[in-house]
Amino acid sequence: EISTFNEYNEPFRSQFHFSPPANWMNDPNGMVFHKGEYHLFYQYYPDSNVWGPMHWGHATSKNLVEWENLPFAIAPDSLGWIFSGSAVFDSENSSGLGTAENPPLVAIYTYHDNVKGDAGRIDFQTQGIAYSLDDGVTWDKFKGNPVLANPGIKDFRDPKVTKVEIEGKTAWIMSLAVKDKISFYSSPNLIEWTHESDFNPAWAAYGGVWECPDLFPLTSPEGDQKWILLVSINPGGPNGGSATQYFVGDFDGESFTTNQKDIKWLDHGTDNYAGVTWSNVPDSDGRKLFIGWMSNWDYAQVVPTEVWRSAMTFPRTLSLYREGEELWLASNPVKELEQLRDQPSVVKGVKVVLENELLEISLKPKAGDFSATFENEYGEILVIGKRADELFIDRRNSGLTDFKDGFASVMTAPLNELKINELRILLDRSSVEVFVNDGALAMTALVFPEHGYSDLLLDGFEAENKLYSLKSIW
Ligand code: FRU
Repeated sequence: EISTFNEYNEPFRSQFHFSPPANWMNDPNGMVFHKGEYHLFYQYYPDSNVWGPMHWGHATSKNLVEWENLPFAIAPDSLGWIFSGSAVFDSENSSGLGTAENPPLVAIYTYHDNVKGDAGRIDFQTQGIAYSLDDGVTWDKFKGNPVLANPGIKDFRDPKVTKVEIEGKTAWIMSLAVKDKISFYSSPNLIEWTHESDFNPAWAAYGGVWECPDLFPLTSPEGDQKWILLVSINPGGPNGGSATQYFVGDFDGESFTTNQKDIKWLDHGTDNYAGVTWSNVPDSDGRKLFIGWMSNWDYAQVVPTEVWRSAMTFPRTLSLYREGEELWLASNPVKELEQLRDQPSVVKGVKVVLENELLEISLKPKAGDFSATFENEYGEILVIGKRADELFIDRRNSGLTDFKDGFASVMTAPLNELKINELRILLDRSSVEVFVNDGALAMTALVFPEHGYSDLLLDGFEAENKLYSLKSIW
């Protein structure tokens, strides 16, 4: 039994990002807004700090900033371990798993039958559901599981269900990662599923297996409804290992189509994987809210933390913007971040002495190359900059790197001549998140400085910039 109490003050422990009290975490799962609370479930192994038999861990937040840890929500059973998936509010009780007066929350997840897998079979992943009648605290498995059998394919997982209303017709649509394509299924009741279509254009990124899809509508700057499909891949990311690509297109209730011709990445850094969006966020809020797992399968299990492993990205708002002919997805920290700000200070000059290790920095680049260098007297150096038409994060000497070959890297993102008006940096004890122009381009990276950075050197920016100390949430 893992205590939910923890000081959250170990070396490298994230101070304003979610991390589990103890032990292993990977993908965010089942994010649903319900009765004033944002639920965050996550891939969790309560018995070790490396990956193992998967459960769904659980935390809730009222403001996307401060999190309350709850006991894990869903545990393995005879059908298998509980892999990634989603949760919806079944407001009409279409599943019949609740009542009209108390409609259920329904979680849709993958059963990973390790016994079958170990026996050399390929049909070991199926989809199951569980439901909660007490607002997400306790969950019962559906007696008729699995709800979607395996058709004889090795990778068949990560159901993300969205309520889709098209031309007065409402259906539950499941996006499912099936090896290297996304399959769409529909259902009237979350129990009976019908295959509708597959999506796997030839030009997409196929460096590894496709995982953790998400399908949702967003409004374009011109006011048109577009559909976005997120697809995580591992390996094959732009800077190695795990990353999330996206497609901007249309969905007619059966199939997803796009005119896009090139690969687009949600985040160009090495450490934002398997992210998906919250369901059931009220229209009055109007935002598409996202969170990702801030790690990479290349080294997630050997990063230098003991008590727990992994944190989530800061929650982000997704929106569409137009650059030239094309629509792109921006991801920007949610505005609730402002609640963590201490007094702002305007910083002048090229050397800033850092009084706090938790920072939000807003820099105004001049035309041309620039660099923002975090450093300390122990020789730990983290550089974020622009060179030619690329943004980069250089973490080669950022702190501990020798736990895995290749971690000491310079990661880059093409700017495609994007003019940078603002460079925003969120620095926590073991991560840095970089956002260009309200998230038009995002780069997230883990860093493990043993002593914290004490100075920031600015080269190529306007004379006055903004810096906020952030408060710890724990
Ligand atoms: C992605 C992933 C999912 C799977 C889960 C298992 O990181 O591999 O495809 O459901 O992790 O923990």
